[in-house]
Amino acid sequence: MIKDDPFFWFKENTLRIPGVKGEHVFMHISDTHIEVIDETSTQEDIDKVNYQIELWRKYKGKFATEAGEPYGEPQTILNVEALDKQMALAEEMKPEALLLTGDNLDYMHPAGAKYFAKKLAEYSGKYLVVPGNHEDPSCEGCWEAGVHTLDFEGFRIVAVDDRNKTVTREDLDALRALCDEGVPIVLMCHVPFSTPYCKEEMSKLISYFYFDETTEDENAREFMDLCVNNDAIKGILCGHVHSYHVVEYAPGKPQIIGSQGMAGAVDIFKVVG
Ligand SMILES: [Fe+2]
Repeated sequence: MIKDDPFFWFKENTLRIPGVKGEHVFMHISDTHIEVIDETSTQEDIDKVNYQIELWRKYKGKFATEAGEPYGEPQTILNVEALDKQMALAEEMKPEALLLTGDNLDYMHPAGAKYFAKKLAEYSGKYLVVPGNHEDPSCEGCWEAGVHTLDFEGFRIVAVDDRNKTVTREDLDALRALCDEGVPIVLMCHVPFSTPYCKEEMSKLISYFYFDETTEDENAREFMDLCVNNDAIKGILCGHVHSYHVVEYAPGKPQIIGSQGMAGAVDIFKVVG
């Protein structure tokens, strides 16, 4: 069983949404940061990949150690090998959907995009992907710009691109229209935000890792206001921080920040009625 591989470490969260029938199990991973070389890679591409591999060898360990998260020899594998393991785990666990909350690629490069697209195409289950701040708004075969949804019985998962600590006007309008439909929403995005409800915990992180009400970006403020005050939005899944946190960003509404998938972090997310 791949789930017994010492590479993985698991957290589990359950969100209760009244009216939902049964138990819905999802696999949430974030920040796999893959770097890939293939037959089309130039020497410059290969040098960049090798540079980034060395960089992450240092920093993923640093993030994990500082957060007190598991980090030993099993977690030092290449990020692309980590993605392979995560995808194999998803095949074994068969969640209702695989949810990837950004920085899937370490940076935009054709070999990485092609590899990621192939892994997604080969995956037998449903999935939803949002881009991270290391990525472009769209990547052919991997994710597309705009708001995307997966519907389940009694709730839906909605992916919103906030990788630049803002949301486009168009995406905000699309999210608001979904909220107006009244179907309970679990939102996925890349960058978490801080509100007065979770300020104490979030302020332990450096400000690079989140945005808050002090932002001058009007759309970001509107996005946070919608997430806090609209009854349709029940919780948030995100990443970006490279360590695991769960905070209540509004009363009864969790913001689940998945840790680094490249170092074995897996968030099992359950929705129950
Ligand atoms: Fe990241």
